Amino acid sequence: MSEFVRLEVKDGVGTIWLERPKMNALNAQMQGELGEIAREADARDDIAAVVVYGGERVFAAGADVKEMATLTYAEMVSRAHGIQAFTRELAAIGKPTISAITGFALGGGCEVALATDVRFAADNAKLGQPEILLGIIPGAGGTQRLSRLIGPAKAKDIIFTGRFVNAEEALAIGLVDQLHPADEVYAKAVEWASQFVGGPALALRAAKGAVDRGLEVDLQTGLEIERAEFTGLFATDDRTAGMTSFVENGPGKATFT
Ligand code: HXC
Repeated sequence: MSEFVRLEVKDGVGTIWLERPKMNALNAQMQGELGEIAREADARDDIAAVVVYGGERVFAAGADVKEMATLTYAEMVSRAHGIQAFTRELAAIGKPTISAITGFALGGGCEVALATDVRFAADNAKLGQPEILLGIIPGAGGTQRLSRLIGPAKAKDIIFTGRFVNAEEALAIGLVDQLHPADEVYAKAVEWASQFVGGPALALRAAKGAVDRGLEVDLQTGLEIERAEFTGLFATDDRTAGMTSFVENGPGKATFT
C-alpha cells in the first residue's frame, strides 16, 4: 500500500498523484512507490494514458534533502540504482504520459517531469536542477533527459547554475509544451490524455518505443527499430479495424479493441 503516491483511474486516464506535504519531497520510500505505481499503470488495461500531478500548489521540490543529508558515500552507492529506477519506470510506461506542473518542479521533481512524454505547466511554475547548489548533480536522469530535450548548451546552463526557470522561459526553450492557469493545468492535461482512450494501444506503445529507443541509437539502427515495430503492427486486430474502417467509412472513424 502506497503512502505518498496514489494511482487514480477515471474514464481510462490514470493519474499518478504525488502526495507528500509540504513540498512532495521525494524520499526513498516515495521514489520506490512511484516506480511501483508506474509499473502498475503500464500493466493495467483500463488505463490508456497517464497524468502525473502534484496538486494545485507544488509538483515536487526534489529528493528529500533532509534524508539525503546524512547518507554516506557507501550508502549512496547502494541506493543510486534505485534513484534512477523510479524515473526509468515512469519513462517505460508504454502509453502516452504527461506531467501537469504547478509551482516548483526542482531536482528529482523536474526529473519526474522529464520522464513523461509531454509537460503542461501552470503559469506560476518554476523548474530547475538546483543540485549543484548542494554540491551534487542531478541523479535521476536529469543530465541525460534534459540535454536530450532542450539541447546540451541550455541544459548545461540550467544544471551548472542551479537557477530556476520560469514558465515563459520553460515554454520558449521546449522544457514544457503548454502553459495554463494554475487551476486549469490538471484539467488540460487530462484532456490531452483522454484523446488516447479507446485508441490503438499497441500502435501507441510501438510509436513511443520507436521514438524513445531510436533516440538512443544511430539512424540506421533507429530505422531498424521502426521497421520491426511497423511490420509487427500488421499482426494486430487494431490495424485490421483501422484500415477496414478507413476503406469502408473514411478516415478517423475506427473503433479499436
Ligand atoms: C526536503 C524540503 C525540500 C526538499 C523544501 N523542503 N524542499 N525538504 N527536501 N527538497 C521543505 C523545507 O525545508 C521547509 O520545511 C518546507 O519544505 C517549505 O520550504 P521553504 O524553503 O520554507 O519554502 P520556500 O521559501 O517557498 O522555498 C521553496 C523551495 C525551497 C524553493 C522549493 O524549499 C528549495 O529550494 N528547496 C530545495 C530544492 C532542491 O534543492 N531540490 C533538489 C534536491 S536534490 P519546514 O519544515 O522548514 O517547513 C535532488 C536530487 C535528485 O532532487 C536525485 C534523485 C531523486
